[in-house]
Amino acid sequence: MTVLGFVSTWDRAPDWKAALTALEPGLDFRIDPELGDARQIEAALVWKPRPGALATMPNLKVIVSLGAGVDSLRREEMPADVPVVRMIDPQLTRGMVEYVLYAVLRQHRYFPFFEDKQRASAWDQGGPVPDTARTTVGVMGIGVIGGAIARALREVGFAVRGWSRTPHAVEGIEGFHGADGLAPFLAECRHAVCVLPLTPATRGLIDARFLSLLPKGAHLINIGRGGHADEAAILAALDSGRLGHATLDVFHQEPLPAEHRFWRHPGVTLTPHVASLTLARTGAPHVIAAVRAVREGRRPDGLVDWARGY
Ligand code: GLV
Repeated sequence: MTVLGFVSTWDRAPDWKAALTALEPGLDFRIDPELGDARQIEAALVWKPRPGALATMPNLKVIVSLGAGVDSLRREEMPADVPVVRMIDPQLTRGMVEYVLYAVLRQHRYFPFFEDKQRASAWDQGGPVPDTARTTVGVMGIGVIGGAIARALREVGFAVRGWSRTPHAVEGIEGFHGADGLAPFLAECRHAVCVLPLTPATRGLIDARFLSLLPKGAHLINIGRGGHADEAAILAALDSGRLGHATLDVFHQEPLPAEHRFWRHPGVTLTPHVASLTLARTGAPHVIAAVRAVREGRRPDGLVDWARGY
């Protein structure tokens, strides 16, 4: 029987309990801070865990993150030698794909413009006819999620390119990598999508220089982490017209403070960190598989490499 501790500030424990016990009826599911005898806990399911909670579990065999990103887990609080696994959930991936398709198509097909015209009862066909095959969308981060986003955009008919830390081949997608690949990658992006993990190497990547490398009037979509972007640089680029639009789901401070200029800027579409959320029903098989893999001495899917940072 598996004893699993749910240690999370994201209150979805009942959903996870139902989904996990449907797959493993004998599972003993305990919710922090009512962990009972924490020495019995073998697996922890975490999202921004309460500081010190994991240290009370000396027999922990695996930690599974409820999110795809593990930047909110402080490495120094992860018990040494306990593998950490990030979430891989088909619905989490699908949600990200949906979000990016919607954000790109909304701008590509001038919906904000037509919504304005409708309010004025104005019949106005607007700007140039959209030429999808000649519109480049760049995806930064070509892992499980970014790869799925890139393939979906290609399927719609966009010219898709990807940028990653190390070379990553995805069929039909032009690949760029490393610091040297960034400027040539950005030079053609009408839409630039950030779905990178937040690591010391990617923190602050979207700065004034980055924005100056995009074509004038480009559209930035950030669904990675707030820490990827210099928010003042985004506002300055929007104000000057260098950036045409920003679709932002993640921020330095969440919830985004009410006085932040992003809320009211006409060039910003913002959502409250909901681009995609893990669904217990579809994420539960990954949790069970990770526990089994570790128990059987196999490498779990989504194993975090702390040297890489994700
Ligand atoms: C959400 O932000 C995640 O990391 O899955």
